[in-house]
Amino acid sequence: MQRKYISKAVINRLPRYYRYLGDLLEKDVVRISSKELSEKMKVTASQIRQDLNNFGGFGQQGYGYNVEYLHTEIGKILGLDKKYNIIIVGAGNLGQALANYSDFERRGFYVKCIFDINPRLVGLSIRGIDIKFIDEMEEFIKLNQVDIAALTLPKAKAPQVAADLANWGIKGIWNFAPTDLHLTEDIIVENVHLAESLMKLSYKLSEKQNPADK
Ligand code: NAI
Repeated sequence: MQRKYISKAVINRLPRYYRYLGDLLEKDVVRISSKELSEKMKVTASQIRQDLNNFGGFGQQGYGYNVEYLHTEIGKILGLDKKYNIIIVGAGNLGQALANYSDFERRGFYVKCIFDINPRLVGLSIRGIDIKFIDEMEEFIKLNQVDIAALTLPKAKAPQVAADLANWGIKGIWNFAPTDLHLTEDIIVENVHLAESLMKLSYKLSEKQNPADK
C-alpha cells in the first residue's frame, strides 16, 4: 500500500479503532457497518468513513467492514505487524510497572533489558527481564537489535541519556520523564505524560461544575 500524508488527528484515532476492532474480533464479530462502529466508538459514521478512506477505504457498500481485515490493515499502518525490542532506562516505580505489564508483548513490543544506576537494583530481574548497570547499556545496544528506549528516570538525567541513546543508534524514544527532549529529526520521540492527562480531566471537571457563559 502506498504511504501518503496522514494528518496527526487521524493517526491519533487509529489506535482506538484498532482496540475496538480487536475487541470485536475476540467476540467473533465478522463484519460491522460504519454506523454500528460509530455507535460503539461515539465517533460519527462519516468521520469513520473519512478516516478509513485515507487508507483506501477497506469497506464495501452495503456490506460494511470486514473486522479481521480492517484490524490487520490498521495494525500494518500502525507498524504493529513488526516486532520491536525495547529497553527501559530507570528501574524505579514506573520502569518496573512497565516491565511488569506483559500485554505489550501481545502487540509486538518486547522488553529485553532494564538499566539503572542503583547497585541495589542491578542484578535483580522483573518477569525474567534483567536489570543491568547503566554502563552496560552501550554494549547491549551494539549486540542486540534495540528499537525503542523507554525513559523512566529522573527528568534531570533524561536529556543526556536520550542523547547517548541517539548516538548509539536508538531511533525511538518513549519518554516518560517530564521534560522536552531536543534530538535530531530522525529520532522519533513519543512523550507520555499522565499528569497532563489528569490536568485535562481536572479542566473538564471544573468546566462541568462552573460552565462558561455561552
Ligand atoms: P523512581 O525514583 O522510582 O525511579 C527512577 C529510577 O531511575 C531509580 O531507580 C534511579 O536509580 C534511576 N536512575 C537515576 N538516574 C539514572 C540514570 N542516569 N540512568 C539510569 N537510571 C537512573 O521514579 P519513578 O516514580 O519511577 O519515576 C521515573 C520518572 O518517570 C520520573 O522522571 C517521573 O517524573 C516520571 N513519571 C512520569 C509519569 C508520566 O506519566 N509520564 C508518571 C510517573 C512518573
